[in-house]
Amino acid sequence: MEILLLNGPNLNLLGEREPHIYGTATLHDLVAQVTAHAHARGHSVRSVQSNHEGALLDALHEARHWAGGCIFNPGALTHYAWSLRDAVLAVKYPVVEVHLSEPKAREAFRHVSVLDGVSAHRIAGRGASGYLEALDWLISASA
Ligand code: DQA
Repeated sequence: MEILLLNGPNLNLLGEREPHIYGTATLHDLVAQVTAHAHARGHSVRSVQSNHEGALLDALHEARHWAGGCIFNPGALTHYAWSLRDAVLAVKYPVVEVHLSEPKAREAFRHVSVLDGVSAHRIAGRGASGYLEALDWLISASA
């Protein structure tokens, strides 16, 4: 299976951005970990990170031609970008929502997720290992 690993705004700054919340691993480290985990299980990963809502929509749309699943951390767009919800509803492959922190345990504005009820699964508050759990979940779901 080919998996889309999709990261939204500010996640390009992982490692230097609020490391007490998001950890010290960089996005490069994270993509390498997820890719190695997938390869070891006979799967592959295509990674996209963008700070732009439209680019994330384009990546979700384009992946419907090849993806068996998607691991998606939409960053702050999680809390208000309703077009992302519509895109997840429009594509056929399962989307796992992942967050390094647990937004629902943080400020009130982070308690809404536009993906509630439309993502296939949600993993939050588990740091970078949450991405590996999401991958394992997609692999199990596709078996
Ligand atoms: C985040 C949580 C969001 O609230 C925040 O805006 C992010 C990162 C996380 O991974 O914990 O950018 O999605």
